[in-house]
Amino acid sequence: MAIDAADFVARVRSVVGESATPIGLHEPELGEIDKQYLSDCIDSTFVSSVGAFIPEFEQRMQEITGAKYAIAASNGTSALHIALYVVGVEPGDEVMVPSLSFVATANAVAHAGAVPHFIDSEYATLGLSPEALRARLSQMKREGGKVYNPETGARIAAISPMHALGHPVRIKEIVAIADEYGIPVVEDAAESLGSFVDGQHTGTFGLTGMISFNGNKIVTTGGGGVILTNDDAIGKRAKHITTTAKLPHKWEFEHDELAWNYRMTNLTAALGMAQLQKLDGFMAEKRIIAERYAAAFEGFEGAKFVAEPAGTTSNYWLCAVQLDEPSLEQRDALLQACHDVGILARPMWNLLHKQRMYSSAPAADLEVATALHASLICLPSTPRLARR
Ligand SMILES: Cc1ncc(COP(=O)(O)O)c(C=O)c1O
Repeated sequence: MAIDAADFVARVRSVVGESATPIGLHEPELGEIDKQYLSDCIDSTFVSSVGAFIPEFEQRMQEITGAKYAIAASNGTSALHIALYVVGVEPGDEVMVPSLSFVATANAVAHAGAVPHFIDSEYATLGLSPEALRARLSQMKREGGKVYNPETGARIAAISPMHALGHPVRIKEIVAIADEYGIPVVEDAAESLGSFVDGQHTGTFGLTGMISFNGNKIVTTGGGGVILTNDDAIGKRAKHITTTAKLPHKWEFEHDELAWNYRMTNLTAALGMAQLQKLDGFMAEKRIIAERYAAAFEGFEGAKFVAEPAGTTSNYWLCAVQLDEPSLEQRDALLQACHDVGILARPMWNLLHKQRMYSSAPAADLEVATALHASLICLPSTPRLARR
């Protein structure tokens, strides 16, 4: 049955309101305090890779997430690359990831020289399915304490679940399964700043995790990321290799290994410090927006609002609705109807195993990810929408 597009748009409109200009999916919220911090940073002349805002930002991210280490990085992709590298992902390895994710989840694996190995998602969380993970791992070969893909001969070096749209995956179950196999978990928590499971912040369950501060995230630094870990050796190493592996010295330039310049700038961290002051307010506003969408789609024929997984606190980074029947045609007709009136709704990302770089990468059955891809529509979720 075709969904009534006019009714769909009217329900979205009841939440986002009228606007003379297009209503974006997620717009940065910048104001006086952001200008002030940036101005202070410029006045200090410390606008580059050294400055007081960087350790302050790292400290604040430790407090917010409860992680022992929060290492600032140039963006979420570089943070994820290093989060994989420091747990021991090496060229030729495979890393199990969801196919339903942003391309960076797989790109970071490839930047580490490894190959993504795609695992199915689940309806309840939109993220990696623990059951699908267990089923796939049971097909792998265990030898000498390591796990190998019998088809490719590659080692499974890490599992990298992603908290889609800010909704936490069943991370405790995923970590428990990974532990059984002795495989480290690297959490892609790019989208889930402010999302918790049983009071623990996403990104802190795995051996490492990361968060993105890209312009479309709940708080933005323009571009930036942090690597999270509770492990002393890994935390110190991550800091060292994201900062060119330079040995501390007043004037000597001695670097003890090949490393990266993945540093966050002080200017970026200054904006981050301003933005983090608003995080609690943004999170409260996101819940208001979520409640309004949930109410607007109550009783709607053909689609339902995507609520946070039971037992978790989502930051509701992007609110979404899910069609009862997966259909790319129906999905695109609704997206078109929204765009026709300046509501810039979006689909989920195209499945990673279909992207040309990864079309021959190993993949398990991806039935649920395929259905979710054809049924999810993300709706405008900028915090200010709650203030109307
Ligand atoms: C799931 C996911 N992983 C990784 C990233 C990479 O972050 P960045 O854009 O900061 O490189 C993003 C978003 O941008 C993301 O949504």
